[in-house]
Amino acid sequence: MARSMNLAVLGAQWGDEGKGKIVDLLTPNFDIVARYQGGHNAGHTVYVNGRKFVLRLIPSGMLHPGIICVIGNGVVVDPTALFGEIDELTAAGIDVTGRLVVSDKAHLILPYHRDLDLLSEARRGERKIGTTSRGIGPAYEDKIARRGVRVGDLADPAGLEKNIRDNVTARNRLVHDSVMEVEPVLATLLQQAKRLLPLVRDVSLLLNESMRDGRRVMFEGAQGTLLDIDHGTYPYVTSSNAAIGGVMGVVKAYTTRVGEGPLPTELSGEMGQRLRDSGNEYGAVTGRPRRCGWYDAVAARYGARINGLDVLALTKLDVLDGLEQIDICTAYRSGSRTLTELPSDVAQLAACEPVYESMPGWTTPTKGIRRYEDLPAAAKRYVERLEVVSGVPAAIISTGSEREDTIIRPDVVRQKLGDKLSI
Ligand code: IMP
Repeated sequence: MARSMNLAVLGAQWGDEGKGKIVDLLTPNFDIVARYQGGHNAGHTVYVNGRKFVLRLIPSGMLHPGIICVIGNGVVVDPTALFGEIDELTAAGIDVTGRLVVSDKAHLILPYHRDLDLLSEARRGERKIGTTSRGIGPAYEDKIARRGVRVGDLADPAGLEKNIRDNVTARNRLVHDSVMEVEPVLATLLQQAKRLLPLVRDVSLLLNESMRDGRRVMFEGAQGTLLDIDHGTYPYVTSSNAAIGGVMGVVKAYTTRVGEGPLPTELSGEMGQRLRDSGNEYGAVTGRPRRCGWYDAVAARYGARINGLDVLALTKLDVLDGLEQIDICTAYRSGSRTLTELPSDVAQLAACEPVYESMPGWTTPTKGIRRYEDLPAAAKRYVERLEVVSGVPAAIISTGSEREDTIIRPDVVRQKLGDKLSI
């Protein structure tokens, strides 16, 4: 029975949908917030009282006192990045002591993973993935190849040394322009172990016992369904499963993507720049400009199908304020065929042309609106059309970056989520 009180919040597009804001907003309904995949390639931005926090590894529930935040076994952890984030939060007056738990089974991102990420991208040349260069892919490669180093391994210096020696030797065979020494890598790790090991717990046990005792867990996804290693636009994907059988899918009122790979509704001209500027669409991790385009309902329907979404949280509606006309992609044209479902072949997807329907925009701003009734009529029509073409109702509509700039539709929450969420 307790299981039904848990909720997964994940990206239903190509990442950057606004998951940080939604997770932060919903956190008071839960006791534990758990990240389960990805690493510090994620950049979950949360604004509280005008102050901006970018959470990469630490779950977005951390800004609420008393909440336990979990970094689960599926996450890849760069200790330097993790400590940097803890220090940043501490400096901002947020006490993480006793509230952050890391799985002993999570794999570590080590300095050679970053080198291999850069090397692999350079060698791919024009066919590069456009990764965040954080070493995410190589760390997952080592995990699958069964030579990875896990957080729990830090407790065994002798075993750790053997493993690091093998891995650094393998790295030196691949990277020709620099030689990495084993000793400094090991010395740093042993130093980091002192700070990391006290955070380590058996996370599956913790979560299971918490759920058994009636505590509620929110699972925070990173990246997005279309970046999922299995269900995304392979090979232009991240190296983990960003999709699960979940419930609330976060989508932006338009579409963005960072890095290479197909984005059927991409707008290269003035309108793309307009969305990029109003939406501040620059990567939270790498600062790269995000590619922007109109809402892609084919991609959204795919996200809904893969995750079995019950509801959407629609973010950044206010970015579209003041546009005369807004387009929605409802299908793709592929040669002489019209496709209503996402093709799994990346080359076919890249060649698809969007089929648009146009809707009138609105002149009264939606920014900061907190009640659905207060939205301009054209904005309501736009939201309602997105619900129809995506096949999922919107329970939450975000109209600004602050927590309070949010419309919650209690009727949709009640009908679709029942007792999973009481707001
Ligand atoms: P990687 O995860 O660094 O290997 O990058 C693989 C692909 O996923 C690239 O296209 C990245 O731009 C994209 N990506 C990874 N993390 C995020 C994210 O949090 N938001 C948006 N795109 C991401």
